[in-house]
Amino acid sequence: MHVFHHIKSLRQALQQARSEGKRIGFVPTMGNLHQAHLELVKIAQSQADFVVASIFVNRLQFGLNEDWDRYPRTLDADCEKLRSVQCDVLFCPDEIEMYPNGMDHQAKVILPTMADVLCGASRPGHFTGVTTVVSKLFNIVQPDIAVFGLKDYQQLAIIRRMTEDLCFPVQLVPGPIVREADGLAMSSRNSFITAEERGRVIILHQSLLHMATAIEQGERDFKQLELQARAQIEAAGFRVDYVSICDSKSLQPAAHDDTSLRLLGAMYTQGARLIDNIALELAAKV
Ligand code: PAJ
Repeated sequence: MHVFHHIKSLRQALQQARSEGKRIGFVPTMGNLHQAHLELVKIAQSQADFVVASIFVNRLQFGLNEDWDRYPRTLDADCEKLRSVQCDVLFCPDEIEMYPNGMDHQAKVILPTMADVLCGASRPGHFTGVTTVVSKLFNIVQPDIAVFGLKDYQQLAIIRRMTEDLCFPVQLVPGPIVREADGLAMSSRNSFITAEERGRVIILHQSLLHMATAIEQGERDFKQLELQARAQIEAAGFRVDYVSICDSKSLQPAAHDDTSLRLLGAMYTQGARLIDNIALELAAKV
């Protein structure tokens, strides 16, 4: 696997691959790789001939009091993992390479409305940081396909919308959520969960599953279901950020007759903020 720190040398390698007629696949990450990231690489490999992964802990998408400085950085182990799945290229730029004019004066990509709800409501500016860095990475790599995980469902929906609005010539491919044996969605931030909390954090996923079961059984009082889920999470000892039953496309609160739903939640442990979501497709009334 070739490791590039600079845009110029990466572009030369990509030009070579393209001249050989290869289809380029791209998997952007912030590193501290786990099985879910490697599954995204495998998905890219199944649909492209030459796969680029990137690792960049993008300060622009972290709030001032968030965990940018303690975000786990494990480059050597990450390289090993990417090599083990035969990833072709790793791009890991530093901040000067990505933001040579500084972040304060950086041109930004802003997606109104969709970026202001759910995670965006409690992390102002977060998704602008994401759309800006992903735009830059798309322009640097110019991939044919890019793979994003459904664990960050709102992120994927926003990137989908940005790609459409700004006419990026890239096909987005979603990767299924990869979970631990008990159902906890894998995340680099799971390392911040204490041993004492670990048995209880599964309540986030369970509360979403409870809501899905109730809806499947005909319950349509979504607000009431959200309140019950919040109470379950609080009873397990965690602070809730949001629990929301949404229309899967707009990410606005679902109407009673919506059939394609996404159930999303976020909660705080002592050292981390965890997110999860599940899909719920209901049969349309005829
Ligand atoms: P990061 O959190 O490293 O995630 C990189 C990719 O892995 C994202 O597409 C994310 O959705 C996916 N992923 C993480 N955990 C997953 C899981 N358990 N199951 C499925 N997919 C999972 O997301 C980011 O980085 C950044 O915001 C980035 C897009 C790289 C922009 O900086």
